[in-house]
Order: sequence, then structure tokens, then C-alpha cells
Amino acid sequence: MVRFDDVWLQYHRAGGASGSDAPAIISHMSFEIPQGGFRWLTGASGAGKTSVLKLMYLAEHPSRGKIELLGTNAASMERREAALLRRRIGVVFQDFRLLEHLSAYDNVALPMRLARRSEGQVKSDVTELLHWVGLEGKMDRKPNELSGGEQQRVAIARAVVNRPKLFLADEPTGNLDDLQADRLMMLITGLNKMGTTVVVATHSKRLVAEYPAPRLDIARGMLALDESLVWNR
Ligand SMILES: Nc1ncnc2c1ncn2[C@@H]1O[C@H](COP(=O)(O)OP(=O)(O)OP(=O)(O)O)[C@@H](O)[C@H]1O
Ligand SMILES: [Mg+2]
Repeated sequence: MVRFDDVWLQYHRAGGASGSDAPAIISHMSFEIPQGGFRWLTGASGAGKTSVLKLMYLAEHPSRGKIELLGTNAASMERREAALLRRRIGVVFQDFRLLEHLSAYDNVALPMRLARRSEGQVKSDVTELLHWVGLEGKMDRKPNELSGGEQQRVAIARAVVNRPKLFLADEPTGNLDDLQADRLMMLITGLNKMGTTVVVATHSKRLVAEYPAPRLDIARGMLALDESLVWNR
């Protein structure tokens, strides 16, 4: 479950406005996503989608308000607890953030190894996933030897490999063709059917139309529309 209760976010820039003078990037934001829910996060460029996702994986802390993640109050969490919680969250970043010195295989294997899974399990799961995303022939490549769309697929595989309780993706189909995007959506909807809460930020009208789910629409850092109520889920 994810709950935002009157959440505000101000970025503090070095040398710039600080404290309460900094502009609020996110304000008055309240919503709830039940465990196993699926939400599209939409809104114009600069509206605040990435900022909302950053709050959801604890990369930013709200300047005001309360965030509850997977049953825990994010504000009162110790570093160690936050690190453990983050392992149950799978994230696809807008800029992928793959580790440059690791192969595609090792990038995807990383979350499993951190969770101390056996190498046998790592091998079967990572190989299966990389097949699924069409990278079976490129497992040994480093990120800089892969195309943008290929890197994006590695990032997606890495985010789902541990079957996270919460899956967050920031424009995950931005570099994919329609066929690859549909395969990705099969992966995500499969994960969602098994109980993972899913939040996907996208500009793709096609995806939103073809995979109907409630939209959280953001405009200038505020929730302009929450379709959860209409959909009653
Ligand atoms: N670290 C930061 N410091 C200061 N301002 C920031 C920072 N990161 C983002 N912003 C500002 O916050 C606002 C929201 O940015 P955000 O990245 O959340 O938008 P977005 O909806 O994800 O846009 P896009 O669709 O282009 O990815 C923008 O005005 C941006 O300039
Ligand atoms: Mg963004």
C-alpha cells in the first residue's frame, strides 16, 4: 500500500533558495493506492511525476506531510530500515542508472545477490528474464555496448527480478518500439496480478488507452485528477 497524506516537497539547491523559500515542487498531495493496485502517473513534462516516484522510493523526504509505504511510516524510518524497505521496491529510472562496469547479466543479478539468493536461482531467473526481454544474446554486454532501448530493458529486468511488493517505473517505454512496450506491459501486468503494487509514469497515450487503469494526473505539482475513486479500486 502507498499513502500520501498532504505531502509537500521542496528541493533544496546549493546556493539557491532554501528552507521555506524554495518553491514547492509537490504540494497538497494526498492519495492512496491499495496493495495490488495499478496506477498510471501522468502529467506534462515538469509536472512532478519523477518527484512523486522519488518520494515513493525514499530518495527524497517530504518537506511536509506523511508517506506510508508497504505498511510503514516512511518518516520515522531508520536508515537500515529504509534500506531493507527499498529492497522490496523495484524501480526503473528515467535514466536507467545501470552500473557501467557490470554486464547486463550482472546488473540484473545484483538485487538477487544482495538478497543472498543462491547462484543457481540467480542463473535461472536472470537468464529467463533476459530471454523474455529479448536480450538472450547480449547478456555479457556492458551498458555502453547496448542501445538505449536495450539498456531500458535491462533496467526493467533488474527492477522485477526480485518480485518486488512495489514496482515503480519512470517512462519505462520511452525507448521501446510498440512490440517491446507490449511485452513489457505483459511483464508488469503479470507482476501486478501476483499482488505487486504498480505505479508507472508515462507520456504514452497509447499505453494508457490500451491498458486501462486509474490515472493519477499531476499538474504543477498538484494532483489534478485521481481516477481511483471512479474506478473504485
Ligand atoms: N533536484 C532538483 N532541484 C530543483 N528542482 C528540481 C529538481 N528536480 C526536479 N526539479 C523541478 O521539479 C519540477 C518537477 O520535475 P519532475 O522531474 O518531477 O517532472 P516530471 O513530471 O517527471 O517531468 P518529465 O515528464 O519531463 O520527466 C520541475 O520543475 C523541475 O525543474
Ligand atoms: Mg520525469
